[in-house]
Amino acid sequence: MTRHTFTLANGVEIPAVGFGTYKAVSQDEKVVSEAIAQGYRHLDTAAFYKNEEAVGKAVRESGIDRKEFFITSKIWRECLGYESALREFGESCRKLGTDYLDLYLIHWPRPFDLKADWKEPDRETWRAMEELYRSGKIRAIGVSNFLPHHLNELMEQTSIIPLVNQLEFHPGYIQKAAVDFSQRLGIQVEAWSPMGRARVLEEPVLKEMAEKYEVSVAQLCIRFALQCGVLPLPKSSSPERMRQNMDVFGFEIEENDMHCLMTLPPIGWSGEHPDRDRVKI
Ligand SMILES: NC(=O)c1ccc[n+]([C@@H]2O[C@H](COP(=O)([O-])OP(=O)(O)OC[C@H]3O[C@@H](n4cnc5c(N)ncnc54)[C@H](OP(=O)(O)O)[C@@H]3O)[C@@H](O)[C@H]2O)c1
Repeated sequence: MTRHTFTLANGVEIPAVGFGTYKAVSQDEKVVSEAIAQGYRHLDTAAFYKNEEAVGKAVRESGIDRKEFFITSKIWRECLGYESALREFGESCRKLGTDYLDLYLIHWPRPFDLKADWKEPDRETWRAMEELYRSGKIRAIGVSNFLPHHLNELMEQTSIIPLVNQLEFHPGYIQKAAVDFSQRLGIQVEAWSPMGRARVLEEPVLKEMAEKYEVSVAQLCIRFALQCGVLPLPKSSSPERMRQNMDVFGFEIEENDMHCLMTLPPIGWSGEHPDRDRVKI
């Protein structure tokens, strides 16, 4: 089987389709074990998902060498700060049963309290992550849900440019400003909710286009991300859909269809934005 990967700015290779674990597992590792059996080696978790133990258990029980996996976790937005980041990193490793992470991300740039200071806590978190990175405990460090102004504030007083920015990204919500800004800096963008948590699957334009390529709308969305240079993280709890979501390398979306997907009217947005309270859609 061909291995499809992206290469981060520090040379670390990352499997081109990751498995999203949010709401895929709680205390039970069966869904992740199934994803591993289907061929996923890139697993996206977070302290907030409360499933790191289950993910770690599935990895160990697979009998596959830890080095074959690419495991991402994230520090939650209410835990920003230097000491807190060191502690949270240790907790994530303990729960996952690993002594290193492949990728560690700041989950959101700001706490829920929008009046709270975030610039200094972000930089302090990043200082801890830079130390962990330099000591070899994390292979790549990055951020999530950072818009250009959050990235600028972070980079003003830190030395390592984030290697990854994980953003909501799918047809109908492509966050062009944040994606372009990140990509210009050599930051690998990852797509969370690459099919808008199933909210875009009934969109007529997508259905018609998927028919043309003889794929599902989910496959079209995943392929769309890849062709934008964005690494998709689909979640599924069904073996058949897990398999389908990795089977996206046998077709190519034509240029005009890419333009069409990039210019769809807004659809499927989660309502989440780092500078706003959650917007009810
Ligand atoms: N950084 C962040 O702030 C952030 C936020 C949200 C999510 N994430 C990450 O991104 C991952 C993915 O995002 P997500 O879970 O929100 O949404 P998603 O992957 O876009 O969508 C998942 C939904 O689509 C369905 N689905 C999956 N494959 C399908 C297929 N081939 N055909 C039809 N339906 C399909 C799933 O149902 P079934 O399970 O029944 O198949 C589920 O309802 C998360 O698991 C998490 O790792 C990160």
